[in-house]
Amino acid sequence: MYNKRPIAKNIFHVGVNDRHKNLFENYLPLPQGVAYNSYLIIDEKVALIDTVELSCADVFFAKIDAILKNRAIDYLIVNHIEPDHGGCIGLVKQKYPNIQIVGNAKTFDMLKGYFGIDTQLFEVKEGDSLVLGERSLTFYMAPMVHWPEVMVAYEGNDKILFSADAFGTFGTNNGDYLDVHLNTDKYWDEMRRYYACIVGKFGVPTQNALKKLSTLDIKTICSTHGPVWQQELSKVVGLYNKWSRYEPEEEGVVIAYGSMYGHTRQLTEAVAEGIVAGGVKNVVIHDVSQTDTSFILSDIFKFGALVMGSPTYMGGVYPLIEKLLCAIEHRGIKNRLYACYGSFTWAGAAVKQLTAFAQTMNWEIVGTPVENKQAVFADKYQAAFELGQTMANRIILQTLNNENP
Ligand code: FEO
Repeated sequence: MYNKRPIAKNIFHVGVNDRHKNLFENYLPLPQGVAYNSYLIIDEKVALIDTVELSCADVFFAKIDAILKNRAIDYLIVNHIEPDHGGCIGLVKQKYPNIQIVGNAKTFDMLKGYFGIDTQLFEVKEGDSLVLGERSLTFYMAPMVHWPEVMVAYEGNDKILFSADAFGTFGTNNGDYLDVHLNTDKYWDEMRRYYACIVGKFGVPTQNALKKLSTLDIKTICSTHGPVWQQELSKVVGLYNKWSRYEPEEEGVVIAYGSMYGHTRQLTEAVAEGIVAGGVKNVVIHDVSQTDTSFILSDIFKFGALVMGSPTYMGGVYPLIEKLLCAIEHRGIKNRLYACYGSFTWAGAAVKQLTAFAQTMNWEIVGTPVENKQAVFADKYQAAFELGQTMANRIILQTLNNENP
């Protein structure tokens, strides 16, 4: 029962797959579920690193019991207390009343607030170590990746980083937890969506953490979500490095549009035709009424250019476009090439607002925004096509400049 193969000698994965939750943080769709990872180290002392969401407590404790039998846990290391990882802290404390909880000052403030626990605490600061026997853990603070109390733990014998949310992804671990045994293709889009939605606002803290961790020799990353990374470790770190600098992964354009009666949609087709005619092949089109904002946000992290289209709605932009603008602004996404277009019936406002948004973001506005009144006739279709062509030309020039700086 349960996969008890260790990650390294006497280090076990005791995380669980959540296949029931539909919405992470009650708003982000989980088409492939999510895993909450927890790890158990058995040495002269026994340490548990993070827990899982409360709804998964039964499987979590069954896994621990299957490995530990009746042995007690000496330390609970709380790298991140958010309830998807800290959910079972109260139950762990009940089951192992002599346990010491390891965290930093910020952890302990939250520990008291969430669980009323303020005794049997073992406080660690930057660079402090906890000796377990043959193994010891050294702690590094990683504030705002993704909460202020976040820290990571490094085990030097086998060079394992217990990284909290960092390098995590949506998607369950199907059949195994170790990347070597999995087809990891399904994770890359979900990892970017996870990053964009959960950590995306915190690019600078993520960069700071990456710089700090770059001094460590790391062979295995044990995140709190998704696979344990060994084979794909350098790819995962490289992606986090790129995303946290807001650098696109590849050349391409996201077109995100809203449309009530099809006129802005017609312009979307024209813009897309112009982009491809201009020589850029990667065009991803999202109707904001059909695609959840999180997936669009993920593609905006992936590609370096964004074109947005909106009808004028109550003197502003379409409501779901407004939601997307808000999500982009919250993440502070930098350095995008941008164009916009839209439709109106009696008084145009959306294009003006879409243009002002790009100015707020300090993005480069490419071409002349296209604003269409009522039905789309040939002149506006052509203008939207040319806007797409102009965008393609600018993207190609940017790619050339990046290749030959
Ligand atoms: Fe997976 Fe920030 O919790």
